[in-house]
Amino acid sequence: MTKKKTDTTFNNRMRISSVLSKIIEIVPEKEDKISNDAKKYWSSSQENSTIQDLSHWRGSGRWCDDESWNKIGKKHFFMYKKLCDLTEMTGQIRSMIEWGPGGGANLIWFSKELNKIYGIDISSPNLDECERQLMENEYFGFNKVLIPANSPEDCVDLIKPDVDFFLSTAVYQHFPSKEYGIKVTKLAYKLLSNQSIALIQIRYDDGSNRFAPKTRDYYQNAVNFTSYKIEEFWNIANEIGFKPIAIYLKPEVNYAYYFLGKGDIKCQNL
Ligand SMILES: C[S@@+](CC[C@H](N)C(=O)[O-])C[C@H]1O[C@@H](n2cnc3c(N)ncnc32)[C@H](O)[C@@H]1O
Repeated sequence: MTKKKTDTTFNNRMRISSVLSKIIEIVPEKEDKISNDAKKYWSSSQENSTIQDLSHWRGSGRWCDDESWNKIGKKHFFMYKKLCDLTEMTGQIRSMIEWGPGGGANLIWFSKELNKIYGIDISSPNLDECERQLMENEYFGFNKVLIPANSPEDCVDLIKPDVDFFLSTAVYQHFPSKEYGIKVTKLAYKLLSNQSIALIQIRYDDGSNRFAPKTRDYYQNAVNFTSYKIEEFWNIANEIGFKPIAIYLKPEVNYAYYFLGKGDIKCQNL
């Protein structure tokens, strides 16, 4: 073979391999693989201080400052109070589910006035840390619900239905897909009573690459994995049966909070 022919063959092989690796980069991974990666990722909070910080563990990373940690739950508790006012549900909420409670930054606030709390998570160390925080605060109404990451519907067997309030903040953006988030929202609807409220926060897709939904490489993309257009999630909630009441936006982090009601819910005029 001449040198020129060898060079051409080499160059062609390089081109084919570069095209192949580009194709691989855009082929979506199977949801089971992404769910498995998500479980490993969030369960590593046991030994990994970065994941502890991302899971909002008191005293870890950004949360060394107790005031910052307290602010997480304080603002969500304030939104919940607003939602209660809007729906005339103040004083009527006894039980709640938090989907993805992390280190308990929200529940430390909600435990002040709820008798029964379910924390649903795919990470056992995060549920243990949340329970630890609540017990230190002398709250004993917490029920840990550890679900398989690829089968969120298993929670139904572990929760007594007719719950009054559903909360999920800083979690939907970590789901393996948009369909997974729809499944969780349907589960929320199923587990809530016929006169109940929900506060769900998503990361919204503004058309940029950064906030577009991802389909591969969970470890690299975990922070912004799943997103929806603002009106898309409103319509999803509505089609499931929720009454969307209001949205609150935080454009600096692309957060959209949906204030929702189920069933026999009154709503004050905004
Ligand atoms: C950023 S932390 C949020 C903690 C808390 N909600 C807050 O706002 O402080 C994300 C939590 O979601 C959990 N998580 C991730 N994927 C989940 C899934 N598919 N189902 C339930 N929990 C999940 C993580 O283990 C972690 O506890």
